[in-house]
Amino acid sequence: MNFANYQNEIYLHGLEGRVPPFTTDATALGASARDHLDAGAFGYVAGSAGSGATHRANREAFDRHRLVPRMLTDATDRDLRTTVLGTPMPAPVVLAPVGVQSIVHREGELATARAAASLGLTMTLSTASSYTTEQVAEASGPGSPRWFQLYWPNDDDVCASLLDRARRAGFTTLVVTLDTWTLAWRPRDLDQSYLPFIRGVGTAIPFSDPAFRAGLAKPPEEDLDAAVLRWVPMFTGTDKSWSRLPFLRRHWDGPIVLKGIQHPDDARRAAEAGIDGIVVSNHGGRQVDGAVASLDALPGIARAVERTGSGMEILFDSGIRTGSDVLKALALGARAVLVGRPFAYGLAHGGEDGVRHVLRGLLADLDLTLGLSGHRSPAELTPDDLWHRP
Ligand SMILES: Cc1cc2nc3c(=O)[nH]c(=O)nc-3n(C[C@H](O)[C@H](O)[C@H](O)COP(=O)(O)O)c2cc1C
Repeated sequence: MNFANYQNEIYLHGLEGRVPPFTTDATALGASARDHLDAGAFGYVAGSAGSGATHRANREAFDRHRLVPRMLTDATDRDLRTTVLGTPMPAPVVLAPVGVQSIVHREGELATARAAASLGLTMTLSTASSYTTEQVAEASGPGSPRWFQLYWPNDDDVCASLLDRARRAGFTTLVVTLDTWTLAWRPRDLDQSYLPFIRGVGTAIPFSDPAFRAGLAKPPEEDLDAAVLRWVPMFTGTDKSWSRLPFLRRHWDGPIVLKGIQHPDDARRAAEAGIDGIVVSNHGGRQVDGAVASLDALPGIARAVERTGSGMEILFDSGIRTGSDVLKALALGARAVLVGRPFAYGLAHGGEDGVRHVLRGLLADLDLTLGLSGHRSPAELTPDDLWHRP
């Protein structure tokens, strides 16, 4: 797929007096999304933990690392394809799990699933989806790559049932989020007393789950408050321990990825536990305030994983906005990156088309910047392709 062609397409449309539906500057998407969202929804998407220091650090770390372009490398024809955890990808970009997408656009995860499928990109469905596992699988379509993200419920029967449904619906990889076992102090949401889950938004997956419903006196359609009161403490408030990982292995026969790893020792431990992949992520700065930038955590983790000889795959997220950001993360040891807020902002601007515009823009930028840096494939990048300020 020639992603760079999106650039030609946009300029050619200009001959007919047409411009893109909204900005192609991914760093400006948040500001323009604000006009499309109510204050609660905008705060929920844009917000971070505490002072916002982790989110700022994420972006600042990308700024501190710089690509060092090479010339005369015959980089005209490029191939961005890769395979991660058995999933073929047209480019090393995955849609991060983003919950409660219906607060951003009525069609929420269904629109995102269609946009991702149209580009062959892998979508990661959040446990906190506004639509059911089965509805999103249908929107994604047969054969389209999809992963399932688990907020690990503290009820084993419900957990096993959620995983069983995901597997049946064609989700191939399980992404277990470890960093959000309880919600961080998020001033933007707190100041508006805004939490979608307690309003029964972002609860479609548990509320449609037979094991969850079996524990209710009345179904959620008849008694929403009781369902909320049962679900919220089930998926938030209780941390787990490493000794619980075999439970997931028993209930999931595909690859398992741990999301939220920031320390080399945790990465090593995951490898020793036979985990297939990790996402080096600080949840886009939404959980621990004043934490290390995810990009700064990446090189040490990559070295630690390498030393295990496990072949555990490393993915990265938190702060990716541009093609060059993707290349920097790949150079520092990631096999692929996850993107969160940018596509959510695209969804806010224009539903499925909006998500597609953002993703095509990111892929075009990635393709062009890869070539202009002197490379034909993302696999060529190493830390030597970067300069960085301490
Ligand atoms: C509105 C919003 C909702 C999110 N919901 C989830 C979720 O349900 N599960 C999860 O593992 N991560 C969730 N995340 C975190 C993303 O998966 C990802 O780690 C983060 O957005 C990456 O940072 P970025 O937004 O800077 O790209 C959410 C992020 C946002 C912005």
